[in-house]
Amino acid sequence: MRTPLVAANWKMNGSRQFNEALLTQIVAGARQCADVDLAICPPHVYLDQARVALANTEIGLGAQNLSQYDDGAFTGEVSARMLADIECRYSLVGHSERRTLFGEDDGTVSAKFRQSQMYALQPILCVGETLEERDAGRTEEVIAGQLDAVLGVAGVFTLTAAVVAYEPVWAIGTGHSASPEQAQAVHAFIRERVARQDGTIARRLRIIYGGSVKADNAAELFAMEDIDGGLIGGASLKAEDFLAIARAASTTRT
Ligand code: PGA
Repeated sequence: MRTPLVAANWKMNGSRQFNEALLTQIVAGARQCADVDLAICPPHVYLDQARVALANTEIGLGAQNLSQYDDGAFTGEVSARMLADIECRYSLVGHSERRTLFGEDDGTVSAKFRQSQMYALQPILCVGETLEERDAGRTEEVIAGQLDAVLGVAGVFTLTAAVVAYEPVWAIGTGHSASPEQAQAVHAFIRERVARQDGTIARRLRIIYGGSVKADNAAELFAMEDIDGGLIGGASLKAEDFLAIARAASTTRT
């Protein structure tokens, strides 16, 4: 059985004071869902604060982004080595906001994926279609393209230490989650596509869903066969909502 992963993507939110309260509450509540892997991805500047707050807990630290380059003359960037040094366990790669607002193409995303694995950070590879692409019946084509671009460079074996997040762009921050059936169909498609290359890796791969996951829709999403947890944006900024979502992952799995 795949252990569910529920990861908080704080995006560009927080302050030292806000984070301290949020982290304290999450650490306290996390004991109720010990069978779920939890991760917190704060902005880079707060990684060390989160590292300290999460020390001696099972909660993993994650970065929202990383450089595709090794250390050197890349002003403003943060390398995978630095993230590993500050004890990150995960790094988001290819979030749709990075792809659309910061021009990350499949080549950049693949380079970041590789860089992350080189320093033993588990990449959480985000894939997802826009509403236009869905309406044009191109969802599977788009997802396959994003997945294949990374697997073509990194190889299917790298998925043994990676997570895939399906995040339909139209569901992110909109309050309109994909339905459990819509999400399940894409998750099954992703697993099937990986299985064409390696059935065992596909069966073990965690595929999490992101896009307007809330305390009141999490359980029905996580109950689907191929949905192994969630990547939580807005709702992760409230401890009680994030913890309710984490508990939903815990109680729907056996
Ligand atoms: P949301 O964001 O939960 O606010 O929709 C999810 C994400 O972008 O990871």
